[in-house]
Amino acid sequence: MIKNLNVAVFASGNGSNFQALIDKKEEGLLHVNLSVLIGDNNEAKAFDRAQEHKIPIWLLDPNDYDSEGEYIYDIFMELKKYNIDLIVLAGYLKKIPARVIFRYRHQIINIHPALLPAFGGEGMYGKHVHQAVIDSGAKVSGITVHYVNEEYDCGNIIFQEATKVLSFDTVNTLAARVLKLEHKYYWRIIESIVIDINIIRSKNEK
Ligand code: GRF
Repeated sequence: MIKNLNVAVFASGNGSNFQALIDKKEEGLLHVNLSVLIGDNNEAKAFDRAQEHKIPIWLLDPNDYDSEGEYIYDIFMELKKYNIDLIVLAGYLKKIPARVIFRYRHQIINIHPALLPAFGGEGMYGKHVHQAVIDSGAKVSGITVHYVNEEYDCGNIIFQEATKVLSFDTVNTLAARVLKLEHKYYWRIIESIVIDINIIRSKNEK
């Protein structure tokens, strides 16, 4: 029997990727506990989605803290509270503090709406990414799932899937096609990590 991993999702936007994870979990295809949704914007649609599905929410705003140390301490406490195994970034723009990345090395993943290492880095999010792809004249774009390290969009790549950039694509048409790929694949990559960790843990128990 596959044991669920405890997952914290960080999302501050629409949360359509988060919704895709909720759906696959509810269909019984994704073996995770969506333990907590963490974001810095409580007006984000992602927060409504969490509420609708009774997933705990934690509003994390660095401006609420006097020091970085307290900010990081609270993040650790929150992740410990739910015994988090995997952190899934799904439309979260703030940088994860280096100490959290160090502690959760290879336990934090992100999805990026282009084929890294191209079209990544600071400021490359949302429509900026698709605009840059179109402006470059690239004939393919796609999605990248990668581990998170200390640099924006630079961690080891776990998975990529491509889609053609069509001659009549606009930012919106390309964004919509890429988002569909994200919904199709992100949960599958997470499920494959769940299975890998289950195998490792069962070997360690023997
Ligand atoms: C996605 O395009 C994802 O690649 C990026 O942020 C966007 C989030 O979209 N990291 P949504 O909030 O899940 O709809």
